[in-house]
Amino acid sequence: HVAVIDFGSQYTQLIVRRVRELGYFAKLYALEEFPDIGKPGAIILSGGPKSTSEPDAPDIDFEALSGFGVPVLGVCYGMQLLNIKFGGSVHASDRREYGPAKLVPAAPEGLFEGLSHESQVWMSHSDTVENLADTCSVIARNQHGTPVALSWGNGFFGIQFHPEVTHSHEGTRILHNFLLQAEKLEPFRIEDFKKEVIDGIRATVGDKQVVCGVSGGVDSTVLAVLLNEAGVNVRAIFVDHGLMRKDEGDEVRNNFHRMGVPIETVEASELFLSRLAGVTEPEKKRDIIGNLFIDVFWDAVGDAEMLAQGTLYPDVIESASNAKSKASKIKTHHNRVDRILELQAEGKVLEPLAELFKDEVRALGKSLGIPHDILHRHPFPGPGLAVRCPGEVTQDRLEIIQDCDAIFINKLKDSGWYDRVWQAYAALVPVKTVGVKGDERSYEWAIALRAVISEDAMTADWVELPYQLLRETSHEILNEVAGINRVLYDISTKPPASIEWE
Ligand code: XMP
Repeated sequence: HVAVIDFGSQYTQLIVRRVRELGYFAKLYALEEFPDIGKPGAIILSGGPKSTSEPDAPDIDFEALSGFGVPVLGVCYGMQLLNIKFGGSVHASDRREYGPAKLVPAAPEGLFEGLSHESQVWMSHSDTVENLADTCSVIARNQHGTPVALSWGNGFFGIQFHPEVTHSHEGTRILHNFLLQAEKLEPFRIEDFKKEVIDGIRATVGDKQVVCGVSGGVDSTVLAVLLNEAGVNVRAIFVDHGLMRKDEGDEVRNNFHRMGVPIETVEASELFLSRLAGVTEPEKKRDIIGNLFIDVFWDAVGDAEMLAQGTLYPDVIESASNAKSKASKIKTHHNRVDRILELQAEGKVLEPLAELFKDEVRALGKSLGIPHDILHRHPFPGPGLAVRCPGEVTQDRLEIIQDCDAIFINKLKDSGWYDRVWQAYAALVPVKTVGVKGDERSYEWAIALRAVISEDAMTADWVELPYQLLRETSHEILNEVAGINRVLYDISTKPPASIEWE
């Protein structure tokens, strides 16, 4: 694998991401973990916010680093640090160079093989190298002649810019060229990973019973199928809170049946609806659903010997790198409630997907024989249709949303648009307006259709669906769904809107 050592740059996770995209297994290590990083085939030292001249600047055990005998790439701070370790010096400056620069390699080889002329790279640093060690050669400069890439021989390289950000137009190529120097590095194959992870599960679980919650979503489905494939004693529990899409409960059960994994359903729709009665405040609704879900789930679990969770790598590195930030608190609320923390302390929590990114989970799912339609389902929020139902959640409102949503989703699937959008759904607009149905005046609610594209759900853009598709969807909804006399299309970007309505 490729060990990425974190010096605190906001981009460190992206380095891991890029290396994975290049087909090699990368793992992020906190500096404190070094040198316990297994047997890496290559090492990357990330950038960081500090200056190497500060008294408490993060340092690395250079002897241990050299001892691995594998290529090392220092990025930004990583490069400055290597330069000092090799006997050079760094010029500290208060002024930060931030933004694009041109890369002028000394020769079109090594890290820079195959690059276009004066490729754009992205800078974000204040220190610059001053004196260079005798062993050091400048392998690239910027357009002003300042050294921006160094080589010290024996596979040690440094680059001042950030190859991991997309603003470095050929950054991925540079990373790839670096990895090609690593003779001991094996490409990552999901089949090997599957075998390894299954062996790991068997060794940890033995003949204990493992409980996991399933929702029908990609992560929990892959998790359950993986456990089943490992042949351990697994209980997959599906809490049906009644806030699912139309016929979704049956679909989830059928899918699991199809894949040969037994699941237990806890039918809790009435309980959820009764607790939601009269509640209109969005955060209150979320709170009720979240807490009740946990109660119902643990009630069904009883005395668990082990619990498996579908935690993914982005959650792990996010909580590790900003342990105190708000972002990780949101996740904490989600995955690490008290009961789970207790089990975790006792070593009873299994997170076999915790090293994978989403697309790798899909690849694993594919190699486990999980059908395409399950692996490429749109994301669905934990509180379900409640966040698409402003105001009170009632059975008749849910049914309207489900019917409209099913019509819309089917149209998207039939036209090939489903796989091209990140998420699509129908939300109720519980405002009555006047219309005519037949010869009668109608006074009914509106439904809003929303379809967005997104990379990571942090930002989103609405999709320019064909008018014909919208026309047919609207026509069918107005004809088929009682209680709706108006169809709207949501053309709001995120930000400032969010993807969901609550
Ligand atoms: P927003 O509405 O915040 O949604 O733009 C971003 C993405 O997150 C999903 N979402 C949730 N997922 N539990 C989840 O598991 C939740 O409470 C939750 N709220 C929103 C939403 O569907 C979108 O993909």
